[in-house]
Amino acid sequence: MSESPIEQKPLNVLVLAAGLGTRMRSDLAKVLHELDGRPLVNHVCRTATALAPESIYIVIGHQAEDVKEAVLHELDGQKVVFVTQEQQLGTGDAVNAARSFLENSDSTLVVLSGDVPMIRHETLAALVQHHHRFRDGETACTILTVRLSDPTGYGRIVRGGDGEFERIVEQKDATEEERQTNEINAGIYCFDARKLFSALSAVKNNNSQGEYYLTDVPALLKDAGEAVTIFQHGDAQEIEGVNNRAQLADLERTVRRRNVWRLMLEGGVTFIDPKNAYVSSDSVIGRDTTIYPNVFIEGTTRIGSGCVIRPGSRLVNAAVGDNVEVRDNCLITDSEIGDGCTVGPMAHLRGKAVMVEGSKVGNFVELKKTRLGKRSKASHLTYLGDATIGEGTNIGAGTITCNYDGKNKHETHIGDRVKIGSDTMLVAPVTVGDDAATGAGSVVTKNVGPGELVVGVPAVALKKSRSRSDESGS
Ligand code: UD1
Ligand code: CA
Repeated sequence: MSESPIEQKPLNVLVLAAGLGTRMRSDLAKVLHELDGRPLVNHVCRTATALAPESIYIVIGHQAEDVKEAVLHELDGQKVVFVTQEQQLGTGDAVNAARSFLENSDSTLVVLSGDVPMIRHETLAALVQHHHRFRDGETACTILTVRLSDPTGYGRIVRGGDGEFERIVEQKDATEEERQTNEINAGIYCFDARKLFSALSAVKNNNSQGEYYLTDVPALLKDAGEAVTIFQHGDAQEIEGVNNRAQLADLERTVRRRNVWRLMLEGGVTFIDPKNAYVSSDSVIGRDTTIYPNVFIEGTTRIGSGCVIRPGSRLVNAAVGDNVEVRDNCLITDSEIGDGCTVGPMAHLRGKAVMVEGSKVGNFVELKKTRLGKRSKASHLTYLGDATIGEGTNIGAGTITCNYDGKNKHETHIGDRVKIGSDTMLVAPVTVGDDAATGAGSVVTKNVGPGELVVGVPAVALKKSRSRSDESGS
């Protein structure tokens, strides 16, 4: 095995996520605004984990508890350390909040901004590699930069006559000439942790915003004779920051386009109108599935092959098999649909509803925490909640499982090959046996035995149950 010539120091990541995000004009902290259905800060945190750092430090402050909760949701089980920045005095002050953890640590620290969500871990890995290779691993700081056609709003990179890094100047503090520079600071850096904190002590807030800028640190390091280098990246999209809602909407469109185009070109998925389809990055769609306009596929939805999802439907964390048709305007959340099923139009599946292979749910039917068995049907105007339904059963139009008594939820169990008549009320808890039937308009308050036919309000047996007639010994 060939040994790497440079011994790499342990790696930590620090994410800045304490800011207010004034330019969002929102009551919600900026890093909690969602892109691709997940908070901005979660994107950055997920990318950070791909670097396999020893620890991820997250600087929280504004709406700290909510940010913490969001991050923990994403980084469940990872080594995360939250540090609090009491007052939002600038990015330099934010990093300083982690001083006690990192100032004496002989490690490499990658600093990320919670509002730069598109950065890829491959780019960060290349940044870290550049940092370690430059000056035999003695580099104090590597800055990720990019050239933008419109650099407005970003900190600009000022290079000296030798083309080497000189300093970063914020837009608000820049001269007209400096503003002409189109090389910008991405807000992403790689530091020698000890050197970073030593230079950070010298940062002052004598600038137009009265803030402690992290961007002053590289020049301070350079002035102290340390090696500071630039890692210029080619992909401008990756480093786009979100400061206002227009930038957020731009990124959302970018992500959506990327997902839909990938599914068309690599996944063999048909989109009738690709500009009008919304597919989250964590969703999967199989080959030869057709997606109509205005369909939203969100969360971790899985759709098999040969399916058709008609206009106006929304699927959130749904698991859909092969050859399924979801007709117009359905809402399907946290539910499962087996191969060959048909859903809708205008159906609602939620709360871990399961449709087994070949079953059918028609218009104005709601399924909640209900399992509809193989080839069973609920075709019209029905509510099935907390229920299990066997195979080959037909649920008549207007059937309702009365599952709630005002205090508790109760279950309904319906067997195989049952015929539930139109407008039947199943007052739970109640069980209907295999091959049983209910008459139209029945209110079923007692269990119905196998093969039994019940009718009326409350429903009484018209044809005796197989088991009861067996018992009578006739
Ligand atoms: C920053 C950089 C700028 C760079 C740009 C890239 C500074 C001074 N400027 O500007 O050079 O081009 O990012 O996107 O660093 N934050 C805190 N605490 C604070 C202030 C900010 O945690 O007191 C966090 C914010 O939540 C945010 C990140 O730091 O995630 C960046 O802050 P922001 O105010 O957006 O900096 P920019 O003005 O965009
Ligand atoms: Ca920003």
